Amino acid sequence: METYSVGNKLVLRLFGRSHDESVGCVLEGLPEGMEIDFEGVSRAMELRKPKDGIGTPRKEPDEVLFEDGVVDGKVVGPVTIRIMNRNRRSSSYDGLDVTPRPGHADLPALFKFKDYDVSGGGQFSARLTAPLVAAGAVAQQYLASKGIRVAAYTRSIGNVRDSKDRGFEEAEGSKAFRTRAADASLDSAMSEEILAAAEDGDSVGGVVGCMVVGLPIGFGGIWFDALDVSVARMMFSIPAVKGVEFGKGFGITSMRGSESNDQYCVRDGRIIALSNNMGGVCGGMSDGMPLTFNVAFKPTPSISKRQRTVNLREMRDDYVEVKGRHDPCVVPRAVSVVEAMAAITVMDQDLSFQPDQ
Ligand SMILES: Cc1cc2nc3c(=O)[nH]c(=O)nc-3n(C[C@H](O)[C@H](O)[C@H](O)COP(=O)(O)O)c2cc1C
Repeated sequence: METYSVGNKLVLRLFGRSHDESVGCVLEGLPEGMEIDFEGVSRAMELRKPKDGIGTPRKEPDEVLFEDGVVDGKVVGPVTIRIMNRNRRSSSYDGLDVTPRPGHADLPALFKFKDYDVSGGGQFSARLTAPLVAAGAVAQQYLASKGIRVAAYTRSIGNVRDSKDRGFEEAEGSKAFRTRAADASLDSAMSEEILAAAEDGDSVGGVVGCMVVGLPIGFGGIWFDALDVSVARMMFSIPAVKGVEFGKGFGITSMRGSESNDQYCVRDGRIIALSNNMGGVCGGMSDGMPLTFNVAFKPTPSISKRQRTVNLREMRDDYVEVKGRHDPCVVPRAVSVVEAMAAITVMDQDLSFQPDQ
């Protein structure tokens, strides 16, 4: 079976397709004897599930099976995580191999792979983010034991934007809301935005903000293994991601150096910065401030509105109206995927790049 791998000391191998029997991953390099809190993993899976009205009607129980490498709740070797696909409806995808969906992987995948199975989006499906969230929950447990915590929340959906800079506890608090907004009034405005698009047979995108706190100064690799490089790579691996920015991101280009530099001071015997425009990373390593970044998600490609496409069989212009069960906005569910991918990256960086001592 084909797998897709990433990581230095913590190697993750992802496998499966949307309408296979199961999806999953193998995690190699978890410390032997590490205890796994299965309830914590289930809680993370709940957050990725679609919420009524604003998410896909495809409901999956998402029970996480730790098939190999765990005995009596403790890691004894490479860990295999498997999640069954119980709710498949392949007929909704009939015809998309002839009239590919604009914005989805169909067209390039049909040219690249002879046996590409378009149903459910095949190996490009966000169904594969389910085992990533399970693996991320394990990584978060490892990081928590080192005082490192990760939290993400929704900063915008369509034209509804959170104008405040949120702190860690507010990001954590987004778990109470179905859009993963930082407060109740944004949650209802963002839900409205999603429902309005869905009623039109359309979709919307948005931005997820993420922060990692507790990283010591100097944490991370350099050059091609740098902390920001590795985080960006993992974020761009999430389906539907179109942009990643750290700290002030593109906004930093209109500042002067005297404004953008995060100036240092000593407080209570600790070096801190007076601002965090860099997003906590300099030279690819942590400067001790929270690692903060934003991830931009495009509107869901599968929409029921009639759109132009091509008919590959007859090599002519055609139209497509996508059926099936889709998220009118991927952002609320993507928040837990961003958290998971950040945790997996930071854990690998911790295992791979210890400071000289
Ligand atoms: C959590 C999540 C849920 C998604 N749900 C859907 C969906 O229901 N329908 C769809 O067409 N795309 C969905 N996507 C996006 C597609 O998987 C993605 O656009 C597609 O694989 C093409 O990849 P690309 O957008 O990175 O180019 C979802 C993405 C995420 C992260």
